[in-house]
Amino acid sequence: MTTSSPAPRHIAVVMDGNGRWAAKRGRPRSLGHKAGLKALRKIVEHCAKLGVAELTVFAFSSENWNRPKQEVSSLMDLFMRALDKETRQLHENGVKLRFIGELTVFNPELQQRIRNAEECTRENQRMTLNVAANYGGRWDITQAAQALARACEQGKMRAEDINEAVFAHHLMLAEEAEPDLFIRTGGEMRISNFLLWQAAYSEFYFSPELWPDFTPQCLDAAIADFALRERRFGRTGEQIQDQAR
Ligand code: FPP
Repeated sequence: MTTSSPAPRHIAVVMDGNGRWAAKRGRPRSLGHKAGLKALRKIVEHCAKLGVAELTVFAFSSENWNRPKQEVSSLMDLFMRALDKETRQLHENGVKLRFIGELTVFNPELQQRIRNAEECTRENQRMTLNVAANYGGRWDITQAAQALARACEQGKMRAEDINEAVFAHHLMLAEEAEPDLFIRTGGEMRISNFLLWQAAYSEFYFSPELWPDFTPQCLDAAIADFALRERRFGRTGEQIQDQAR
């Protein structure tokens, strides 16, 4: 007997391939990002319909600042414009929007729009969309270590009090279940510094599709593949099957 995994509660996505999608059409990379936003909109709607509780997407990594200046500024423009327009739509669909990452480096107007969008959608319960912006998994772990070190310095805790659960509580997404399914589009098979701690037991799915071509049907295929996985969390297959009996 084989066991199958229940539907994923939390899906994380590295939306890779926007630049190549545009290049294939002889168009600027910024057009690929616009098409990427369109694809994201459809995936969010689809996840909400499927009852996925949490979707976390990598929109801008801490390393993306190293891209050509023009691409970075067109991405910032896209975020600005998207925030106002998409927030309204997300709110109507009962989606809560959250940002994770070191947001203080963004220009003050963008930071304000981020806060407004979070505030406006705070009470929504149908689904949460976490957008990772200026996020890096190593940064996340480092900021948690700093918070714990500060608490120790201030005498609020002792080094011995730090265990995995306490550490995890200081990471981004501390209140959320860890991602069940981790999808990367665009054909590359790497994690690229996304959710390093949180993805410890995620099931990985690599799609050859470039992100703008990743349709709701592609997501269905990823979820169907996930359903066939046996998640053992360090236990044996026999133990898992006994438990399912
Ligand atoms: C990676 O593809 C994609 C990004 C760095 C940007 C992703 C952003 C969006 C999809 C827009 C989302 C907008 C909001 C408001 C959340 P790439 O440029 O690395 O593609 P490549 O590997 O083909 O070069």
